[in-house]
Parts: sequence; C-alpha cells; structure tokens
Amino acid sequence: MSPTGEHHPASPTERQHVSDLNALPADFTWGVATAAYQIEGAVAEDGRSPSIWDTFSHTPGTIDGGDTGDVACDHYHRVPEDIGLIKQLGADAYRFSVAWPRVVPGGDGPVNKAGLDFYDRLVDGLLEAGVTPFATLYHWDLPQTLQDRGGWTVRETSEHFAAYTSHVVERLGDRVKDWATLNEPLCSAWIGHLEGRMAPGLTDLTAAVRASYHLHLGHGLAVRAIRAASSDARVGIVNNLSPIEPASTGEADLAAARRADGHINRWWLDPILGRGYPQDMVEEYGVELPVRPGDLETIAAPLDWLGLNYYFRQVVTADPDGTAPHAKQVSVPGARLTHMDWEVHAEGLEQLLLRLTGEYGVQRIYVTENGSAYEDVVAADGSVHDPERVRYLEEHLAACARAVDKGAPLAGYFAWSLMDNFEWAYGYDKRFGLVHVDYATQRRTVKSSGRRYAELVREHTERRGRAAA
Ligand code: IFM
Repeated sequence: MSPTGEHHPASPTERQHVSDLNALPADFTWGVATAAYQIEGAVAEDGRSPSIWDTFSHTPGTIDGGDTGDVACDHYHRVPEDIGLIKQLGADAYRFSVAWPRVVPGGDGPVNKAGLDFYDRLVDGLLEAGVTPFATLYHWDLPQTLQDRGGWTVRETSEHFAAYTSHVVERLGDRVKDWATLNEPLCSAWIGHLEGRMAPGLTDLTAAVRASYHLHLGHGLAVRAIRAASSDARVGIVNNLSPIEPASTGEADLAAARRADGHINRWWLDPILGRGYPQDMVEEYGVELPVRPGDLETIAAPLDWLGLNYYFRQVVTADPDGTAPHAKQVSVPGARLTHMDWEVHAEGLEQLLLRLTGEYGVQRIYVTENGSAYEDVVAADGSVHDPERVRYLEEHLAACARAVDKGAPLAGYFAWSLMDNFEWAYGYDKRFGLVHVDYATQRRTVKSSGRRYAELVREHTERRGRAAA
C-alpha cells in the first residue's frame, strides 16, 4: 500500500532526468495549483449559482464521457485533507481559484457570505499549515446569469468582475497577498468563443475578439480594485503561452508562424504590458475593438508579476482555408506525447522564460502551471507509479533552472496539479495530478511524481538552509 502519509524515496530511474537545480533562487516558491470548478464539486451548496461550465458540461456531447464538475474531487468538503496533501508534496504555496458564482451568485449585486466563508476557511487552513495562498480570481467559471446578458462580449461583465474582485479582496486581502486576476484568458476567448470547445461554446470570431478585449479590461479594472482594497497586494495575471515554430522555411509557413505567435502570445502579452494590441493581428481579425478613452492605460496597469502556464510548443503551417489566424498546428515526427497528445518539449519553457525576460522586460515571473497527463494505473498494492510524469517534472524544472542561470527572474513554480481533477472537455479521463484521485471513493494517493516533487523541494530547501548558515 502507498497510503498518502507514507514517504517512499524515488527510485534511481526516477532521479536520472533532473539536472542541477542550484540556479533556482534561495527564496524560490514551490507550489501546486488547482482551480475551483475542477476540484470543488458542491455546485449547488451554500448559495452557489450555476456557472457557464455547469451549463456547458450538462449539454450533451460537450464533455468526454458525459462528465461534469458536479462532484469533482469533493474538495469543498475535504479541505483539511487536501491541505495535508499539499504539505506532503512539500509545497510552500498553493494556487487556487475563487468561484465567482459562490461569492456573487447573481454575477453582480449581493454578496453570498457563505461563499466567502468557504475561501476564508481555506486561507486560514493554509496559513496554519505554513502554506502561502496564491488566489486566482477567474478560472473560467463565469456566472451563467452574466452569460445570459452577453458574458465577456459586453463591457458590463468587466465592471462586474471588478466589483466581485473588490468583495473577495476586502474579505481575504488581510491574509492573501498574491493575486492573479485571470487564468489563461486565451482559453476563455479563443477556445470558448471561437473554437467552441470550452464554455460558453461559441464559434464566432467577432464574439471572441470582443471577449478578449473585455477580459483584458476586466483584468485592468480588477488590478485597480485589488490595490484599492489591499495596499500590500502583489498582483499578476496568468497567461498560457507557447513557442511557435514554422513547419518549414517557406514564406507561407513563416508568415503563418508570425500570425500564430500573434494569436497565442502577443495578443495576450502586448496590451497587458503596455504595448497596445498588435496591429498585424487587429488587421488579421478585422474586428473593431470597443476601445474607450483610457481603456488601454487601464489594461496596462502595472503588475508585480507575470504568471506563465506552459504545456507545449506549436509547430504550425499555413491554413488559408481555416479561420483566423489561418495557421494550424502540425504534429512533430517522433515527438514524445502525453495522454493529451501534447508534445513534451521542456526547452520551450526555457525559451518562453527568456523571451519574457529579454523581449518583454518582465521583472518577476512565476511558472503558475506546468504538468502532464498520463494514463496512471493503481497497482495491486495501491501505489501509483508514474515515471513519465517524474521525468516530465524533472525536465521542466531543469529548464527553469537553465533559464534562471541565463537571467530569467523566475520566482517560483506551481505544478499542475495538486491532484487529478475535471479536465474540462476531456472530463476525468485525463489525469494531471501529483496525487491520484479515485473518483468512486474520493481516496487520494500520492503518486511517485508527488514524492519526487517533495524530494526536490526538500533538497532545494536544505541547500538554501546550508547556504544561509
Ligand atoms: O486543467 C487545465 C487548467 O485548468 C488550465 N491550464 C491547463 C490545464 C491542463 O489542461
């Protein structure tokens, strides 16, 4: 048996992929991450209203296996146990998201005290355990009632987001210092409004571009709201980025790569970092942005850190018959793939960290998510041995260390994810956790990767202790 409380040292084969992590700073933050709808369950408890993900997941044909987040990991009822797991993984920080439909069930208007009480208890529990909370204010669970009024395609949603943010920070800001406004707005806008594979499930370029703009505006207004409610808050935003490579040196592929870079990276970085929207992409989309005087300054509100979620690079070719950005991803021959069919390419993480440092001049970066899904098997003795995830983790941490060595101001790393959870349109079949969840019993089992993570953290912390002595 491998009950969650036991420590098994990683095997030598699990050790072989890590290179020197010495370059990581002494005060490096070691974290694990989750998101509300993916773990909490309890969707109809204590006044929570439906979000767009409740609607989407209950729409037949949207989610593999017909799964929903109704129960998920039942985290809502298991906070003490899950904080125990965070401790077992050696993490000193926990990135979670606050569910807007728990806190302001109407989207705007009255606050639901019971919703805030839940996060209050979570934060107190984390602090008692010596774990620093990193709170994300929006990880895709827009109250459905706001979607019914236009969702992110209308400006009012940005304003409601800022009001909801004020309520959360006024309640938790005495204890939570690190805030992310949005998680991966690219997914909300492009996958949710253009590709239709995520809530709200639209396939409309105009809606997608307008949503991207209002997400950015909501971010900027939320930064202002956070600072107004908490003078010592440290504020960031979390973007998922990918290095883009052309499939060939032909002119069409080079141009496609430039557009894909605009679509995946520059659209999400430039306005936030004060460069405005990339003109080539404004022309590519051909959709007028609903900019009002002062908006671009609001969107570019100064930040304390930038969050990078990294999973894969993209090799692209021209796709003249497709929709904007008229570029499509091609597979890489011989690539190592995860269960998501995503290529394992740790060098991409190093490249992105160096790009944020060099090209964008970012002063403080966290890898706010990085992780891999594999088809984990629970052995007869109850243990979960996941050498591919161990290797993935080690390779990506080594990439972080190389980037730091070359000057990247990387302040921390959050493994995705603390535990297996509801992987959106893929349901529960895709497991990203360092902890295995048996959904029938809600039994949690720390995987080999979780033990390896704890070991890496311990080694780094011990070195840090020795260096300070
Ligand atoms: O599970 C997601 C998470 O919610 C956002 N970033 C990517 C993860 C893996 O797909």
